[in-house]
Amino acid sequence: MTERVAVYPGSFDPITRGHEDIVRRALGFVDRVIVAVAHQRTQPKPGLFTIAERVELIRSVFGSEPRVTATDFTGLLVDFARAQNVHIIIRGLRAVSDFEYEFQMALMNRQLYPEVQTIFLAPDEHYSYLSASLVREIAALGGDIARFVAPWVLTALHRKLEETR
Ligand code: PNS
Repeated sequence: MTERVAVYPGSFDPITRGHEDIVRRALGFVDRVIVAVAHQRTQPKPGLFTIAERVELIRSVFGSEPRVTATDFTGLLVDFARAQNVHIIIRGLRAVSDFEYEFQMALMNRQLYPEVQTIFLAPDEHYSYLSASLVREIAALGGDIARFVAPWVLTALHRKLEETR
């Protein structure tokens, strides 16, 4: 039987418990998930971690899960998916406010790569308000983010914020 593989693309700056939750949900119906950190983002946002650091953090979070791999990609997501022979894109949908942007991307990606399907997953409701940008901001302002990220991500965030101070 052919392996069912999905790509879960994003900025992952850094990976949060919400992202982890989406990956675990996807593993319920695919054999393997490629978590792919984009060099080109659709919306310009300032980054904190380098792309390589983000990939490393994802690898450390899923170290004991052989069905999850992490990598980065340049250029279009559909070109990456096609090169990997992947036909499933996973995206998390936290709230209605995410919908317009996500729907537009899904339809555009399907225009560019008709064999691809985007599957939207709802996170655990405890994570529906969670975003990497809020985590970065709260951490930078001294707030407690321990419950929103894995322990090594927390350590890396504190170290990174120290460096950039
Ligand atoms: O976590 P994000 O920042 O919301 O993820 C957005 C991402 C990386 C999935 C999107 O910007 C993307 O796919 N970028 C790759 C470039 C691309 O394919 N752009 C056209 C999208 S229709």
